[in-house]
Amino acid sequence: MANVVGAITTSHVPAIGRAIEKGLEKDPYWKPFFDGYPPARAWLAKAQPDVAVIFYQDHGLNFFLDKMPTFAVGAAPEYRNADEGWGIPTVKPIKGDPALSWHIIESLVADEFDVTTCQEMLVDHALTLPMALMWPGGGDWPVRIVPIAMNHVQHPLPSPRRAYKLGQSVGRALDSWPEDVRVLVMGTGGLSHQLDGERAGFINKPFDLMCMDALVDDPEKLTRYSALDIVREAGAQGTELMAWIAARAALTGRVGKVHSHYHVPISNTAAGLLVLESRPAAIARAA
Ligand code: DHB
Ligand code: FE
Repeated sequence: MANVVGAITTSHVPAIGRAIEKGLEKDPYWKPFFDGYPPARAWLAKAQPDVAVIFYQDHGLNFFLDKMPTFAVGAAPEYRNADEGWGIPTVKPIKGDPALSWHIIESLVADEFDVTTCQEMLVDHALTLPMALMWPGGGDWPVRIVPIAMNHVQHPLPSPRRAYKLGQSVGRALDSWPEDVRVLVMGTGGLSHQLDGERAGFINKPFDLMCMDALVDDPEKLTRYSALDIVREAGAQGTELMAWIAARAALTGRVGKVHSHYHVPISNTAAGLLVLESRPAAIARAA
């Protein structure tokens, strides 16, 4: 049976890609941000996932405003990146896991999620930068991926409750996957930020910290908010928080916090990182 080792949720600001390319990790602007990541890498080195199931958003690379699925699941043998116009280097193709993708898709559809299935899919900074942060060194990443893109770009957005249920359904699919693989769940985006309009630059630290706490022990609390509540509390792009909610909801057993980090700002964004461990997995490793 698949062993879901835990979840990592992190921001995905494009400027991180330029900082990595230019080797700016120790630069005074960047150091407080990058210093948050070694504990996540140390945990990953022990957890040794084979596959990462990644909830993220496509910002216009694979889907655009003319065709915008609410939820889209990748089922490709490999995923390519491409120039998005941010000036960050593209990465090597990333290996997929089509068998697990189709199992997740079948479970989701059986659970009445009408997902878009993608046998070809470009993946943008929201997927590649969190991977680069977890496994530095240029892109020979040690996991296969199942990308799950959520619409946080064009209204109407799904609700936090829907994101939570999506995550729960993916969690059940993982629990019923018969292969003996170690699975990491990831959620990317957030925390509070707004890139345009009158509130450009908006950040809400108390709300972010409340969400990071709730995600550990009481994630359902966040399902009381509507999508528009999240826009108000976290900014228009702060709705990416919903990928964190989905990732947390995919952990079906007991959960413990391994590490968290929060730094304001990176570009226009409150940058957060949360590492959660499935406690049964911890017990299994110790035995
Ligand atoms: C920024 C943040 C994002 O989440 C994103 O997708 C693009 C840009 C930013 O703060 O610059
Ligand atoms: Fe984003």
